[in-house]
Amino acid sequence: MRAFAIGEVIASQNPRFKAGDHVQGLFGVQTIYTGPITGVSKIDPSLGPPERLLGGLGMPGLTAYIGLLHVGQLTAGETVLVSAASGAVGQIVVQIAKLKGARVIGIAGGPEKCKRVIDAFGADDCIDYKSENVGARIGALCPDGIDVYFDNVGGEILEAALAHIRQRARVVICGAISVYNDPALMVGPRNYLQILVKSARMEGFVIMHWADKYAEAQANLAKWARSDKLVFREHVETGIENFPQVVNMLFSGANTGKLVLKV
Ligand SMILES: NC(=O)c1ccc[n+]([C@@H]2O[C@H](COP(=O)([O-])OP(=O)(O)OC[C@H]3O[C@@H](n4cnc5c(N)ncnc54)[C@H](OP(=O)(O)O)[C@@H]3O)[C@@H](O)[C@H]2O)c1
Repeated sequence: MRAFAIGEVIASQNPRFKAGDHVQGLFGVQTIYTGPITGVSKIDPSLGPPERLLGGLGMPGLTAYIGLLHVGQLTAGETVLVSAASGAVGQIVVQIAKLKGARVIGIAGGPEKCKRVIDAFGADDCIDYKSENVGARIGALCPDGIDVYFDNVGGEILEAALAHIRQRARVVICGAISVYNDPALMVGPRNYLQILVKSARMEGFVIMHWADKYAEAQANLAKWARSDKLVFREHVETGIENFPQVVNMLFSGANTGKLVLKV
């Protein structure tokens, strides 16, 4: 089972690594990794605890920063909509957008998560997609439309967001968690012509393809975290035997922030 992980080197035949080094890579869901070192890199454990290096300062942080600022090209004063806003990537998108002077509306499941998106991460408002009409609420909260939609969920919420984009909007396709488990849902968006009539742009990205921006992103994320402008929340579970239940938390929404399994 593929998984991004961090760990400690026990032994290596490669001179770049020695026992005791802390490393990150696609090590999979297992307690010991043996294999090629392609994509394996050293990490500095003094930057934070392991869950932080996998969370705010790791892949979710990089995804939020690069997706919002490089793909989304956010500028101050714009209106940003973020789905899965209490999740690992979404909560960092919300905070960076606020730091950059945007008005930010989150979308999350349930009143507790929505409250957290506003109180802990600083969104101006949050739509509860489990109990509210998302399209109507976007219209009410963003009467002049959305400049950047950071999409983590796809499906009907993407369509609802597209219906409210402004001229020259940017729709950042980061993920589509609402349709991953059901190919029948992988249709549309039916109203994609909004992209045409609004002279908008819809662009997907895979974080692995943006390695040239990692250093800039990590430096800024760490700087904002040090000055308390950015808070990270990780959700740590333990025990490799619990992996099947833990991974399903992502789909039930039971996780609060970056979901990390300690094995
Ligand atoms: N492009 C890239 O390189 C890249 C990198 C990392 C992650 N991603 C993608 O980014 C997205 C977010 O990842 P993450 O790590 O931050 O996960 P996450 O947000 O920590 O967890 C997923 C969240 O999605 C929400 N969700 C689940 N099913 C949903 C549904 N049917 N409709 C609406 N929301 C639903 C749940 O929150 P609620 O309780 O609020 O529903 C859940 O907590 C995922 O789609 C992931 O695949 C992309």
